Amino acid sequence: MSWREYWNQDTPIYVNARHKAVHYELIARQLVDALPQGQPSVLDFGCGEALSAGLVAKRCQVLHLCDGAELVRARLAQKFGLLGNVVVMAPEQLGEIPEASLDLIFVNSVLQYLSRADLDGLLATWRRLLKSGGQLLIADVIPPNVGLLTDVAALLKLSAQNGFLIASCFGLVRIFFSDYRKARTALGLAHYSEADMLAILSAAGYDARRRAQNFGHNPARMAFIAVPRP
Ligand SMILES: C[S@@+](CC[C@H](N)C(=O)[O-])C[C@H]1O[C@@H](n2cnc3c(N)ncnc32)[C@H](O)[C@@H]1O
Repeated sequence: MSWREYWNQDTPIYVNARHKAVHYELIARQLVDALPQGQPSVLDFGCGEALSAGLVAKRCQVLHLCDGAELVRARLAQKFGLLGNVVVMAPEQLGEIPEASLDLIFVNSVLQYLSRADLDGLLATWRRLLKSGGQLLIADVIPPNVGLLTDVAALLKLSAQNGFLIASCFGLVRIFFSDYRKARTALGLAHYSEADMLAILSAAGYDARRRAQNFGHNPARMAFIAVPRP
């Protein structure tokens, strides 16, 4: 099984519905704060269920929600299909987006599931889709020294702040015995250092820098802002 196939099912990574809602609202609010001025055209790649994408769509001319999992896309279409400026798509449909038409591409918590070859291919595709001066925002990249214990600590903090600490403790036990943990062991997660990421982005034709803050609840992971070199 590949990671992409793995995600085409209900997964145990959210300890309960509140956790999932808190997570997606946090990401959406952070993304809204990072949007360029005006009414940008945006692609959220590997968006997952993006439960709060409505908040982002309100600020966008068009919001493309792209995910590799058919089940996720069906849920996105059901929830956001009636919003006139939201387009739900598979990665294979990225070619339907006009070249040089996007102001921002957001990729949060996805790189760890991509092979290096897939990442290189996507960096080239995203570069073609971005306008001159447009931004690629890659977040939640896992550095080599950050593992499961840091993830656990960050989740416990988020849950304590949002009233689902006890659910988190039970959820962590469930995750420990779950197919997610087995997949993580069998398939592995891609880790990148800051220097790795800057070199990869530069080789792919971007001027890149590390962003001061990550997106989401885990400050030990990293975010990068990359702009295609003219
Ligand atoms: C951990 S979730 C992150 C979801 C969302 N970006 C967030 O921040 O919560 C990873 C998502 O990436 C998607 N994904 C994994 N591999 C992919 C690929 N090769 N192409 C597109 N989406 C992919 C999965 O289907 C899943 O929804």
